[in-house]
Formats: sequence, structure tokens, C-alpha cells
Amino acid sequence: MASNYLVTGAAGFIGSHSVEWLLGQGHAVIGIDNLRTGHLENLANARSSPNFEWVLADAGDEAAMRALFAQYHFSGVLHLAALVSVPESFRDPGLNCHLNLVIAERIARLCLEFDCKRLVFASSAAVYGSAATLPNRESAAPQPQSPYAAAKLAAEVMLLGYAASFGLEAICLRYFNVYGPRQDPKSPYSGVLSIFTDRFQRGLPVTVYGDGGQTRDFISVRDVARANGQALLGHPVVSGRYNVCTGLGVSLNDVLSIYREIFATAPPAEYSEARVGDIRHSLGDPSLLNNMLKFQANLSFSQGLHELALGSGGVK
Ligand SMILES: NC(=O)c1ccc[n+]([C@@H]2O[C@H](COP(=O)([O-])OP(=O)(O)OC[C@H]3O[C@@H](n4cnc5c(N)ncnc54)[C@H](O)[C@@H]3O)[C@@H](O)[C@H]2O)c1
Repeated sequence: MASNYLVTGAAGFIGSHSVEWLLGQGHAVIGIDNLRTGHLENLANARSSPNFEWVLADAGDEAAMRALFAQYHFSGVLHLAALVSVPESFRDPGLNCHLNLVIAERIARLCLEFDCKRLVFASSAAVYGSAATLPNRESAAPQPQSPYAAAKLAAEVMLLGYAASFGLEAICLRYFNVYGPRQDPKSPYSGVLSIFTDRFQRGLPVTVYGDGGQTRDFISVRDVARANGQALLGHPVVSGRYNVCTGLGVSLNDVLSIYREIFATAPPAEYSEARVGDIRHSLGDPSLLNNMLKFQANLSFSQGLHELALGSGGVK
């Protein structure tokens, strides 16, 4: 019997690319989403595949989720559905706790109940906080600085507790700055690259907060989709937390000089005061995931940014 995989948050940015990666490997995928921040258009390619089943559902709807687990006997679950905005987690910490912690715990129990061995969970580099030593390693003590990061960390702890208690294979992936096609520039939490791309494409100036020397570990969504897929399919795996990053820091000024090559006539960037709370540098150590799954990010930043800016590599 072919394996079925469940992807929650399938209509989102990372979800839609992950679904396509799994379909490309010949697997059957059931994608659920409540379209809170995702868009059905992101699944246009996936929905043309006979191996894809689209379900409009809330991951917190226990009856609906139980029915799916009973029907499809999933071999693995990729749980991406979440409240994704850090500012929203400050405005509504109760909702953040429900969407980012409670639902993850419920999904883990459904996996146990229906004998689905593997749960891959979308965590975040935000769990490290700003005071951590660079590069961030999974062995560092996490210091969440937002309700969002706290809930992601709490969910990791629950899932890994269930791994130790019940033998669930729980792989918690800490994504760094993910960029690529389909990241919504209108979303308030959206990555700087989707906002920059949108503005450069429309010939508008971009605003850099601070001197542009701040660096980020940007990883392409194509690489992230592959990391997700390998974490779902790989053998053997060890339950734990794993960075999904490149290990390379890119400054905003580096980013701007690549955009200048692409959009030679764009107006110059405007520099404004650094925002309170923005961290100066973010960088991950990718070795743990590399050791377990031989995973390595392989799209260079410059190539990834060209693809994003010139619109290839997927539906926007
Ligand atoms: N994009 C990044 O740089 C980044 C970094 C770290 C972690 N993450 C995590 O990766 C995951 C995917 O994020 P993304 O960037 O693709 O965001 P996204 O908003 O594009 O995707 C999240 C998807 O989950 C759906 N969703 C939310 N709550 C749901 C619910 N209760 N039931 C069903 N669907 C629900 C949304 O509609 C959306 O389609 C999230 O868990 C996010 O916290 C993303």
C-alpha cells in the first residue's frame, strides 16, 4: 500500500512547497488548511496531481482530524499550521497558545492513537532569543523573547516528551529566515525579502532599519521543503530539535547589492533608525541535521534571490 502523508498548513508558504516536494517523490499527500493566512492558489500545482487530496479543515477540529487519521493511516505528519505572526502572539497570547501549542499536542496524540510513527514539527530559530551565542546550536539553552517563541519551544518539549514516553519519532525543525516564492509580502510578519522584492518590482524605494549591517541566515523555501520531506521519510532518525539553516550570514547591504544587479534603475534604499528589539545577527549551525539526514541547503543565496526577484520557481 502506498504511504499517505498529512501536511497541515498545506496552503501556506512552506506548506505548499513541501507538498510539491513530497508529490514529486511519488507519495500521496493529504493537505489540510483553514486558510487563516494561507491561499488556495498556492496549491494550484499540487491540486493538479492525482496523488493530492485537499481538505479545508482546522487542525484544531479534533473530530475532523480524527476522521482523517482513521481514513488515511498516515505514515507521517508534517505539522506546519500555526499562528505565524510574532506581533499577533503579543496581541493575543491565548490564541497563540492554542494554535501553536495545544493543537501540536493534539496532533501528537492522534499520531499515537493511530499508530503514525513520525511527526515533523515546524519550530523556529526564534526559540534561541537574542542573547544566545552565535552560531546557534541546538545544545544552547533557549531563551524565547515572545509568546510565539515560547509556544514553539513548549510544543517541542511536549513532542519530545511523548517521543521519550511513547516512542513517537518527533523531529522538531527550527527554521531560520525562510524566503522564496509565495511568501506573502502583505503579511505583517513577512520576511524582509518578500517585502523588498515586492517594492523593487514596483519601482518603489525600500526602507532599511539601521545601517544594513545586520545579518540573517536566509534559507530558500525549496531547501526547507526538502528538509521537511527528508525528515518525514529519512531512516534512521533520532527524535530531537534540528536547525534548518545554511550556516551563512548575509547582511541587508549584501541583499541590496544583489537587488541592484537585478533592478539597476531602482531608487536608492532609504535608511531609517534601527527598530527596538530587532536582533543584529542571526546565524545557525546546520551540522546536526546534516549529520542525521545528510541534509545540506544547496541553493546559493544569490541564485535564490534572482529566482525570487525574476519570478521563476513558482506561483507568487
Ligand atoms: N517563514 C519562516 O521564515 C518561518 C520561520 C520559522 C518558523 N516558521 C514556521 O513554519 C510554519 C509555516 O509557516 P509559513 O511561513 O509557511 O506561514 P504561512 O502563514 O504561509 O503558513 C501557515 C499555514 O497554516 C495555516 N493555518 C494556521 N492555523 C491553522 C489551523 N488551526 N488549521 C489549519 N491550518 C491553519 C494557515 O492558513 C497557513 O496556510 C509555521 O509553523 C511557522 O511558525 C516559519
